[in-house]
Amino acid sequence: MSDILRQLQLTGDLSGVRRADGFMDRPGGAAHVVTCPSTGEILARVHGASLEDLEHVVDDASRAFERFRLEPAPRRGELVRLLGQALRERKDALGRLVSLETGKILSEGLGEVQEMIDMADLACGMSRQLYGASMHSERPQHRMYEQWHPLGPVAVISAFNFPVAVWAWNAFVAAACGDSVIWKPSEKTPLTAIAVTRLCAEVATAMGHPGLFTLAVGGAEVGAALAADARIPLVSATGSCAMGRKVGQVVAHRMGRTLLELGGNNAVVVLDDADLDLATRAITFAAVGTAGQRCTTTRRVLAQEGVAEDLLSRLQRAWKSVPIGDPLEAGTLMGPLIDAHAVETYRRVIERVPKEGGEIVHGGRVLERAGCFVEPTLVRARKDMPLLVEENFVPVLYVVAVKDLAEAIALNNDVPQGLSSAIFTNSVRSAERFLAAAGSDCGIANVNIGTSGAEIGGAFGGEKETGGGREAGSDAWKAYMRRQTCTINWGADLPLAQGVRFDV
Ligand code: UN1
Repeated sequence: MSDILRQLQLTGDLSGVRRADGFMDRPGGAAHVVTCPSTGEILARVHGASLEDLEHVVDDASRAFERFRLEPAPRRGELVRLLGQALRERKDALGRLVSLETGKILSEGLGEVQEMIDMADLACGMSRQLYGASMHSERPQHRMYEQWHPLGPVAVISAFNFPVAVWAWNAFVAAACGDSVIWKPSEKTPLTAIAVTRLCAEVATAMGHPGLFTLAVGGAEVGAALAADARIPLVSATGSCAMGRKVGQVVAHRMGRTLLELGGNNAVVVLDDADLDLATRAITFAAVGTAGQRCTTTRRVLAQEGVAEDLLSRLQRAWKSVPIGDPLEAGTLMGPLIDAHAVETYRRVIERVPKEGGEIVHGGRVLERAGCFVEPTLVRARKDMPLLVEENFVPVLYVVAVKDLAEAIALNNDVPQGLSSAIFTNSVRSAERFLAAAGSDCGIANVNIGTSGAEIGGAFGGEKETGGGREAGSDAWKAYMRRQTCTINWGADLPLAQGVRFDV
């Protein structure tokens, strides 16, 4: 374990504040103790940004933006391509660090770094495709078109569960769009953020753009200051609905823009005609993977009455065989929760299950060992359990029996969140009904695959309390640019639109 930290020079007391000219020697904010969720050992101490430090960080990012926006977009893309190259060279070490710091299994830790690399490739390509539309003017000898300009310094507030990939979704697209990026990572996982910032800031500096990627480790006060800062036109935040609501209000008050990716309460519908083997494997990955700590984690299964009990016993069998333990060890499929606070949440949820009429059919225990390990938990649930509408971010899956597809769709949508959803069926009609306008109300809707593990090519995000933001692929880049509509008169007359006459 300390090998990884030594290899990446992440031992002892570390600075969590990166300005244009490098990491600050002595940042003035709170010190954050980083503990390993698998062992409880202290990994390092990271000194965060004071509000005064943050002022300087935002100044640096603003200055970097003023220069960077002048670079032609394909050259910005070249910078992002080189970031991907640098990440390829360190994939193994960074992937191990992600596992060590978050507790996700190594294959997922490596997958997260791969996701950053893929994002770099995608954003590099995007840099040559920041297309604006052209339209036909109603006036003679006039030309009209839209163009997209860089927006400004963008703040990215990221969560512990995807400590680097979600930053890359934002940061690499933002850079291709000509923006500088200020990163506030979760104070629970600042080490991966420091390692990645070092790497990316080095590449940017070598290309003449120090200050393009800055870092400000800190708690809610740093997030609040970023939200309130009128120099930052866009704040992209991933985390709880409660956090997003606060950030959203503050940014809206100053007429800034937000890109919010908040809670999910994702359901999988399993119909009587489904391939149960496929459904069991998909639900197990989506509910147990990352120890239930993805915003896309499956939290509810809505199983049609004909297969509900069969599915439940298949899930029970699969879950019994899930190896829980050291996330860095080969063969482990489930690591620990992030911290003691999460274990406490798990305990509270487990206590509520029987009180609300649910029955635990597998799991329900906190493991007696060092670290934050719990059993993945399977609940035979009732439709009206208040727990069903909450996102608790712990590996507890509720299986509810439903009469038919109509009831499944109604329950799928009857929660405040709207991120991801899936249906297992072999009927084209049922699948299409789930995907139709009166079907799932989520930002993501899948057929015969689970709710998590989305690819970067699509736009990622969800509706309702999930916040409405879209990140990563497709046309998500538009959030990171400002649109300008241009009308050019190349004639000698001055006709007015809508036929208005104003002759002087
Ligand atoms: C998150 O948990 O915030 O689709 C993002 C997935 C991942 C991203 C999850 N690609 O599960």
